[in-house]
Amino acid sequence: MRKWLAIGGEGFLGSRLFYELMRRGIEVQATTRRRAPRSVNWLSFDLQSSPVSTLGGAVCPFENLVVCISAGIAGEAACLRNPDLSRYINVIRTLEVARYFHARGAFILFMSSNMVFDGSKPFFEITDNTCATGEYGRQKVEAERGLMDLGDRVAILRMSKLVHRMQEPWEAWLSKLDRTERLEAFSDLWLTPVPVDIAVRLIEMIGDRGSSGIFHLSGSSDVSYFEMATLIARKIGAYEDLVTPARRADKSEAVSAVLSYNTLDMTNTMTIFGIRPPTIMEVVDYLCVGRGAMNRP
Ligand SMILES: NC(=O)c1ccc[n+]([C@@H]2O[C@H](COP(=O)([O-])OP(=O)(O)OC[C@H]3O[C@@H](n4cnc5c(N)ncnc54)[C@H](OP(=O)(O)O)[C@@H]3O)[C@@H](O)[C@H]2O)c1
Repeated sequence: MRKWLAIGGEGFLGSRLFYELMRRGIEVQATTRRRAPRSVNWLSFDLQSSPVSTLGGAVCPFENLVVCISAGIAGEAACLRNPDLSRYINVIRTLEVARYFHARGAFILFMSSNMVFDGSKPFFEITDNTCATGEYGRQKVEAERGLMDLGDRVAILRMSKLVHRMQEPWEAWLSKLDRTERLEAFSDLWLTPVPVDIAVRLIEMIGDRGSSGIFHLSGSSDVSYFEMATLIARKIGAYEDLVTPARRADKSEAVSAVLSYNTLDMTNTMTIFGIRPPTIMEVVDYLCVGRGAMNRP
């Protein structure tokens, strides 16, 4: 049986992968930036400063090892705030870690994004040339290229927006709607949501089978945050007119690299792993689990 190393074990995705592997009884270690990890499954590691050999020493032997790299500075805004540091972490150090473990026989699984494309058309395919327009996407492209140069035993998983109900803005919106409070949602910002649980399932399948190559995971269509909020209100039986449209373009904190289309072609993922893109209503159902319809007068 394979054993796993989750680099970035306390992140949104990495933590869910870690606990799911633990639940299945798989041998797994995860990295944290905390100096004093809470148990033997946790290893202290900072991509900015820790030598990779310290991690290697704690993980060896390397037979049947899957290294899932989900650590890094995620998102356009965070990368733009410090392009040099984020590139150092997301590209230079990430590739150093990947090369170290790959050279010792491990399988490398790298988390990438639909932002490697410019969003000029729906359903980019795995064979399409990358064409990132933002800093975050360019860093993902550079890391992907370095990883592909390693040859086999490398998988790259490009994903659109991962969601979970205990995440903002969904958690806050559900609470507001429960309390019959108004909320604002952007009508000019789109997402292509996928439940994070599906991402974890796909990552496990790729790692368990050792499937090399590029894989896509995306929602079935783009939807605005305003439409999502309206659908959520409808789903839980709240008043839909509590949801007011706002324009992201009017807000000062707006950042660049908003794509018109975020969907990815998932033919390969469906054929090999039997995972299809979730519909918007399936995602809404997932976000609203446990929220019964409200008793409106
Ligand atoms: N979430 C999505 O919708 C989505 C979609 C497509 C692709 N992805 C990709 O999937 C990966 C995981 O995303 P996520 O949403 O889970 O991101 P996240 O919640 O921001 O997690 C990132 C992880 O990286 C760690 N990290 C940051 N800087 C580090 C450093 N210098 N050294 C070591 N660890 C460091 C963080 O540690 P701390 O916990 O200590 O901060 C955190 O555990 C990212 O590569 C992201 O680009 C995510």
